[in-house]
Parts: sequence; structure tokens; C-alpha cells
Amino acid sequence: MSFNTKDVVLSEDRPKSLLLEKHSDYLAGYGLNKDDFEYCMTEYLRMSGVYWALTAMEIMNQSSRMPKDEIIEFITSCQDNESGGISASNGHDPHMLYTLSAVQVLTMYDRLDAIDVEGVVKYISSLQQEDGSFFGDKWGEVDTRFTFCAVNALSLLQRLDAIDVNEAVEFVLGCMNFDGGFGSKPGSESHAGLIYCCVGTLSICKRMDALQADELAWWLCERQLPSGGLNGRPEKLPDLCYSWWVMSSLSMLNRIHWVDKMDLQEFILACQDAETGGFSDRPGNIADPFHTLFGLAGLSLLGNPSIKKINPVYCMPQETIDRLRLEPQILPIGI
Ligand code: FPP
Ligand code: ZN
Repeated sequence: MSFNTKDVVLSEDRPKSLLLEKHSDYLAGYGLNKDDFEYCMTEYLRMSGVYWALTAMEIMNQSSRMPKDEIIEFITSCQDNESGGISASNGHDPHMLYTLSAVQVLTMYDRLDAIDVEGVVKYISSLQQEDGSFFGDKWGEVDTRFTFCAVNALSLLQRLDAIDVNEAVEFVLGCMNFDGGFGSKPGSESHAGLIYCCVGTLSICKRMDALQADELAWWLCERQLPSGGLNGRPEKLPDLCYSWWVMSSLSMLNRIHWVDKMDLQEFILACQDAETGGFSDRPGNIADPFHTLFGLAGLSLLGNPSIKKINPVYCMPQETIDRLRLEPQILPIGI
């Protein structure tokens, strides 16, 4: 019999304290040089990049270092007049993922007036299918992550009435597996990223009662490896972003005490780049804005007092969610 042995070993000279100033400098500097190779190579996901960086800066209380006017102008320029959807960057096709990121950024800035909100609502609702599922864009890929994007964005816009919420929930429940987890579509294996999307959808739609909470939380806490880090599925290496996908799901289930918080914190801190700033997927790898957000957000869920509270459903500052008076459903505390 073999046990899961895929893991990393944390080296003795790893970062052990939180390097907040470094991370703020890293994100403030990211994208300043528009000719930078890495910046050019990430054009296809720019809108989400803006969301990752701004949210990370917000929870570090550093968002004044972000070029607010430039960001808002950029978002306005990425809305497609015809479909109403928003793209990753100028000249790209609109997509559900980037439409959500744009709505999240404008919500944080309280500047939804910078886009045609009705156009966004029309775009999202046009992507819902008969079985309740959502396409990601006009090309027709179905995935539970698009259901979450739709429900998340529409709830931020207070326009959930524009879709069939019951059907959306039924589709998600049809993706539940024997282990209590969820995949990308009916019959697909459980995956922590998609569990976040499905539990997040049920939380926003206030249908958390439909979960097998204990089985699901058990599967999630089994993602923790001896290094302290979390993987997204059995037999996979730990990856810092799963500190978010797993811990946010456990937070919605009110069972984050089912993982070893100290071990996870050590792993997250070890993923910092002490020279460049920022966090990477695993200790020693190259930092990026995506893992930087999820490292900080993971620490926030663990209760780190130097970082603002993040909402586990929306992955946005709790103060923003409070301002909107949104109350996604969280289960009562588990044993
Ligand atoms: C892992 O993907 C992550 C997911 C499947 C979840 C993605 C969630 C969204 C896009 C919804 C919006 C998110 C937020 C925070 C508001 P992967 O393809 O990297 O998986 P792998 O680790 O198996 O390669
Ligand atoms: Zn990752």
C-alpha cells in the first residue's frame, strides 16, 4: 500500500515572517513597465490580474498605490457594446471570468457607474442554459466556475433576479460527488477549486443545507500535507492557491479548525520571495500576483492581525461586502 508522498520540504532558510512592505512594493511595481516580458505574456488575463492586485493591496491597506483612474478607464474600454460582456484586455473577446473581475474591481472602487451595468446583466443572463448551467462565453464551454462567476457578479450588482437561480443551484447539486465534493460538470472528479465555486454559489443562493458538510470538510482537510501546504486533489503537490480554495470552502462550512493552522501558516510564509516580494505557488518558485493574493487571503482567513479580513465567498475585503449589505450563508460551526 502506498501513501501520498508528493510533497515539498521546507528549507531552514525560508521566510518565516510576513514581508508586507515587500509585497506592496512588488504589486505597486507590477505593470509599471508595460514592455516587460511577463506583463506582455499575461495580457490574455489582464482584467483578473487587476482584480488580484487590487484585492491584495486592499487587504494590506495599500490600495492608494494602485493607479485608480487608469484602472477604471481600462475597464470601461474593455466592455463590448454589443454583448455587454467584458474582456481581459482591449481587443479581446468578452468572457464571464473577466466580467466578474471587472465587476469586483468596480465594486471595490464603488464605481459601477463606469460600465453599462444593464449590459453586463444581459450578457451574464444570456449565457445561462436550459439545464441551469452557464457558458463561459459564446463558444459554449460549460463549467461550474462560470456558474459561480455569474451568481457572484449578479449578486454584487443586486441583480440575481435576472437568472433562474433555482436551476443554477440544481445544476451545481448535480455536480456533487459521493465524497461530498464537486467537479466542473456532472460526473467530473472533485477538485478544491471547483468546490470553492460550488460552495460559494450555494452560499450566495442560501442553499448550504444541500451540502454533505462533514464528508466535504473531511475531504477538504485531507488536502493538508506534511509540509503544512494544501493540494487541490489527492496525489497532487501542495500549491499556495489551494490555501484559498480549500480554506475559503472550509470557512463557509465553518470548519477551518479541521486543518492545522500553524503548519499551513508556515507553508504560506515559506512561499514568499524575500527578494522580489510576492508569493509563488511553492517555496522557491517565481512570484506572481495570483499567488500573492491567495497567500495574503489565506493568511487573512487564518486570522493574521496585519491583514484586513477577507470575505471567504467573494474574495473581497469584508468591509466591501458589509457596505453592500450582502450576507452569504455560512453554516453553523462544526465540531
Ligand atoms: C484551480 O484551477 C482553481 C479553480 C478551478 C477555481 C477557479 C475559480 C474561479 C475562476 C472563480 C473566480 C475566483 C475568485 C477568487 C473570485 P487550475 O486550473 O489552476 O487547477 P489545477 O491546479 O488543477 O491546474
Ligand atoms: Zn496555484
